[in-house]
Amino acid sequence: MSSGKRLFVKTYGCQMNVYDSGRMADALAPHGWRAAGGPGDADLVVLNTCHIREKATEKVFSELGRLRRLKTEAAADGRRVLLAVAGCVAQAEGEEIAARAPWVDLVFGPQTYHRLPEMVARASAAPPARPWDGARLVDTEFPVESKFDLLPEEAGSAVSAFLTVQEGCDKFCAFCVVPYTRGAEVSRPAADILAEARRLAARGAREIVLLGQNVNAYHGEGPDGREWGLGRLIRALADAGAAERIRYTTSHPRDMDDDLADAHRDVPQLMPWLHLPAQSGSDRVLRAMNRGHDADFYLRLVERLREARPDLALSSDFIVGHPGETDADFAETVRLVARVGYAQAYSFKYSPRPGTPAAARPQVPEEAKAERLRALQQLLAAQQAAFNKACEGAVQPVLVERAGKRPGQLAGRGPYMQAAHFDGPPRLLGEIVPVRIEAGLANSLSGRALAGGTAGDAAAAAPASVEGEDVRP
Ligand code: 5AD
Ligand code: SF4
Repeated sequence: MSSGKRLFVKTYGCQMNVYDSGRMADALAPHGWRAAGGPGDADLVVLNTCHIREKATEKVFSELGRLRRLKTEAAADGRRVLLAVAGCVAQAEGEEIAARAPWVDLVFGPQTYHRLPEMVARASAAPPARPWDGARLVDTEFPVESKFDLLPEEAGSAVSAFLTVQEGCDKFCAFCVVPYTRGAEVSRPAADILAEARRLAARGAREIVLLGQNVNAYHGEGPDGREWGLGRLIRALADAGAAERIRYTTSHPRDMDDDLADAHRDVPQLMPWLHLPAQSGSDRVLRAMNRGHDADFYLRLVERLREARPDLALSSDFIVGHPGETDADFAETVRLVARVGYAQAYSFKYSPRPGTPAAARPQVPEEAKAERLRALQQLLAAQQAAFNKACEGAVQPVLVERAGKRPGQLAGRGPYMQAAHFDGPPRLLGEIVPVRIEAGLANSLSGRALAGGTAGDAAAAAPASVEGEDVRP
């Protein structure tokens, strides 16, 4: 590929897609591709898509319409722009995309993007009959080779870096497309993950977020030849000094084993925040969802985790209006939320996904879904506001990730994952700074830095007088 080409990747959906988008850039970098400022000055535009709900999928097709115009305008200037659809919509609807949007050049799934340079070369070598015609190359295989073995080293330099440790899911929740789009569960070998974490740390990462569709189902091969669970992997990452802060997402309650729960007690680098989707509080609905546990199991698990780490902040996903859900079932969800007390949570209206079991069942009327979502979101927003408010007065070690919106302002995250803002000089970017929280707002915290910035881990970042202070909300 010729040098000086510019790439623009637009990412939809989850953190795994964010990770994949970065790795696509890594795959193309050795072939002369650099980041474009926006789609308008790119030679290759990639939409890295999400298929989880219908809305997410629709967005992709409307964006493709806009990009057709962009492609045509560029052609009028004598410039060829390649257009690619990647990610889960590509995986699920590969041929359909090529047929419905024939101006698309490349369609490839999450498991084949290591072949991107070759695909781009093939598409470039096929000049279009009309300026907006796409090459319509589709690669949605689940190849035997692993992209992780073939991708070049990662070039990102995020302070908080994503690291995919596991992909795919074998749980087959009745509502979910993931097992179809991302395929069966596969865990990366622990040695590869440790090496990647060390490289990320050397490039300036202070925090590593371990990613997987079902991350706590991780069961990779350890350097000792044995199978390692996620708890073991987290301990090894901490022991290797590979990260000052560790998080992981997204977990399934059924895969939360004792070793992982105990890691929350034993590993200070493991941040006291956990995204643990409950989906529903009704045993009937949980059964219909094929979640493999009831509400009581979830509540006991939360108790177990809070014993291990008393200040653990919890986050969750909920679906309202899943087929079969009655008002009484929904009331059970409200009860579960009230009992757990979340620091933050996402909630969605059930969206039928093609090919999933729940999509074929009688559906809950739209008005009932809308009403339940409104009620649940109100409750969750109140819990989040209360959690943030309770942080006021505490000192939290904030990892500074970027400049804030106002000049002189910095933005980062405290241990409990809330966005935190405070005033400070740019040299604090990438540092862990003790911040006295002065205001706990609906969606964020704001406060005042106590010291001029420190190196070292969260505990070391807090001055002696601050250590031991109650940071629990
Ligand atoms: N409809 C609505 N929400 C869904 N999710 C997954 N599939 C669907 C669907 N068909 C939600 C779940 C999951 C989150 C990532 O998206 O809550 O945890
Ligand atoms: Fe989807 Fe998560 Fe269920 Fe797997 S565990 S099927 S990714 S909702």
